[in-house]
Formats: sequence, C-alpha cells, structure tokens
Amino acid sequence: MAINKTKYSFTCGVLTLSDKGSQGLRTDTSGPLLIEILEAAGFTNTAYKIIADHHETITQTLIEWSDLKKIDLIVTTGGTGLSPTDVTPEAMNDVLEKEIPGISEAMRSASMKITPRAMLSRGKAGVRGKSLIVNLPGSLKAARENIEAVLDTLPHAIDKIKGSTEDCG
Ligand code: MTE
Repeated sequence: MAINKTKYSFTCGVLTLSDKGSQGLRTDTSGPLLIEILEAAGFTNTAYKIIADHHETITQTLIEWSDLKKIDLIVTTGGTGLSPTDVTPEAMNDVLEKEIPGISEAMRSASMKITPRAMLSRGKAGVRGKSLIVNLPGSLKAARENIEAVLDTLPHAIDKIKGSTEDCG
C-alpha cells in the first residue's frame, strides 16, 4: 500500500546513536537515508541529531523530542545490538509509556528473511505522549530494511496515538 502524501502531515525526527559519529570519526549515512525515506513517504523532518551511545543523553533527547518538540514519529538508528556500548533499548525503558512489541517483531520477522543476524537487534518501539518512537539497527542496509518493513503501518499507528476513533479496517 502506498502512503498518500496528501493525507498525512506528520513530523518526524531521526536520531543517530553512534560514539564514532558523534565525535566526527564516522560519517552518518543511515540518518540521512532515513530522512529521505520518511520524507518520500510524506513526513516532514523537523529534527536530526547524532549523539553518543550514552544512556542519559539518549533518554534526555527522546524526552525532549517527544515532550517539547512534539514530534509525531521519532526513529533512532544504532545501538540496538550486543556490543558493550549498545544501550538504546535500555534508554527506551526509561522513555516509553506503552511498548508496541508488534512493530519490533514485524521488523525482525521481515529482516530474518534477509539475514539470521536480524535476531541480534534488540530494538523496541512504543509511545511516549503523542509520539511514536521506533528503534532501528545502525547500518545503512539494516536501517533501510527495517523501516521498509513497517513504514506503511506507521501513519495509522500515529493516528491512533493521537486519539483517532476511526474504525480499524
Ligand atoms: N536487520 C536487517 N534487516 N539487516 C541487517 O543487516 N543486521 C543485524 C541486526 N539487524 C541487520 C539487521 C546485526 S548484524 C546486528 S548486530 C543488529 O541488527 C544490531 O545492530 P546495531 O547494533 O547497529 O543497532
């Protein structure tokens, strides 16, 4: 199903979690790609940042983007795996008011058809306030494959978060 650009007028923020990227030691390619994909789907990008894999900084940024900037869809890329510095899911535990396991399950399920390594992403998705927050893995390939698995369903999720009483078909 193609997303109808004229119908959706949601904002999005892209947060890249990378120690090297935050120090200027690595060029972030996943963040700009995600902005491109989301804008092509009709979202308006209002925030983009690269920060270190630091629990408190991730938590503070997600809370600011949700509570103050009121961004409709926040996607993060990176820090979902198993290396000692990966803390994105742990930060999400301090941010989310409702978890939406189905979004992460759908991404892992679609990704498992591409690579068994998909099982190594611990990314979460959920709601804080009126924002939908979705974690994606960090590599360009993984970020694209994961967002593409759920993108078409995200506008309906955001509608529901905002209180839409429209029947779910
Ligand atoms: N999902 C898809 N679709 N494609 C991939 O290449 N890579 C996996 C996984 N998910 C991958 C994927 C790998 S190798 C890892 S380690 C985890 O995402 C975690 O990635 P992150 O630590 O960069 O967040």
